[in-house]
Amino acid sequence: MKYAIETHDLVKVYDNDFKAVDNLNLYVENKTIGGILGPNGAGKTTTIKMLTCLIPKTGGEARVAGFDISKQPDEVRNRIGMVPQLVSLYNDLTVRENVELCADFYNVDQKIKDKKIDDLLELVDIKYAQDKYVKNLSGGMQQKTSVVASLVHNPDILFLDEPTVGLDPTTKRVLWDLMVDLNDQGRTIILCSHDMYEVDKICDNINIIDSGKVVANDTPQGLKDQLLHNLEENNRHIRETILKLEQEGIDENREEINGLKSSLTDESEKITVMVSNINEDMVNALEMLDVVNDVKTMGNGRLNISLKRSETSVNHVITSILANGGNIASIKTNDPTLEDVFVAITAKTRKEIKNGN
Ligand SMILES: Nc1ncnc2c1ncn2[C@@H]1O[C@H](COP(=O)(O)OP(=O)(O)OP(=O)(O)O)[C@@H](O)[C@H]1O
Ligand SMILES: [Mg+2]
Repeated sequence: MKYAIETHDLVKVYDNDFKAVDNLNLYVENKTIGGILGPNGAGKTTTIKMLTCLIPKTGGEARVAGFDISKQPDEVRNRIGMVPQLVSLYNDLTVRENVELCADFYNVDQKIKDKKIDDLLELVDIKYAQDKYVKNLSGGMQQKTSVVASLVHNPDILFLDEPTVGLDPTTKRVLWDLMVDLNDQGRTIILCSHDMYEVDKICDNINIIDSGKVVANDTPQGLKDQLLHNLEENNRHIRETILKLEQEGIDENREEINGLKSSLTDESEKITVMVSNINEDMVNALEMLDVVNDVKTMGNGRLNISLKRSETSVNHVITSILANGGNIASIKTNDPTLEDVFVAITAKTRKEIKNGN
């Protein structure tokens, strides 16, 4: 089985005729950590609810762990665990009682049940609170309980819908490590999140969903590379149009040319280099480099340098600084982040929807 999740034109129309999922084609490879990103209301939770057999689909097809969600829901349910967006535990039961209830629901073998629950409670460091009522727990403790409950039957595929919202940084890390560990053990993890750092850090592949459709799918680095590529392509197209208009007549087309020029996106790469012994020769040498657009000397030994983007630009800068006797303490680049990708892709989709494409 190549894919743990596979959907073909999956559709969900709610009772009020709202189409929340619109011919969705989503693939998550088996034994990977797949991220699902998307703006509020994009249809992420609706998709997860269909894939975990909590709500019926309206159309299309989906297979989870190789089983059809409509025709083989029991097969699907036995192989999945789910940490929902809103914690759904019994408030008047204790942590342990909640987990036991889940274990019994999934017919976990009584012989191994107690040990299994002990191990999981210890794994996420919530065993000390196992006899507390859920209603008396903090949000993070409830989330940990929810994670334990979702894992008690050893699922092959674990769905987590915004599992780290509101958690403190240490607890977040516990959950990230747990997701990576579970994946190392051969499980597939589906992670819905608005935390770009989290998704970038742990996901092998990301699907960005907007208005119920997949609008991008790649590795985190692949998405960032695509963003730069699209930006460069867009600028190239604008420059060609400007050239054509200039050849036709600069004066007649001045307004349009100026408009196009202002729509060019800054492609330069900005880096910050900390050098403890900046001197005038060093800065002059940097300014002379072909790859350098601009150098600004800031306080505390900081050089803010704008570069023409190329694989060797940063190399040239380092070599030049060293040749002038500079002591480089650190270099920071401002490559696109996953958040840049998210904003660019979802803004584009919104614009297309507005224009009726
Ligand atoms: N039971 C329902 N009846 C009607 N519409 C619904 C229902 N549940 C969700 N929706 C709508 O479907 C759309 C998708 O909702 P969904 O919860 O799947 O979004 P999401 O991507 O998970 O968003 P968020 O990031 O805010 O969690 C939204 O417009 C929402 O209002
Ligand atoms: Mg949601």
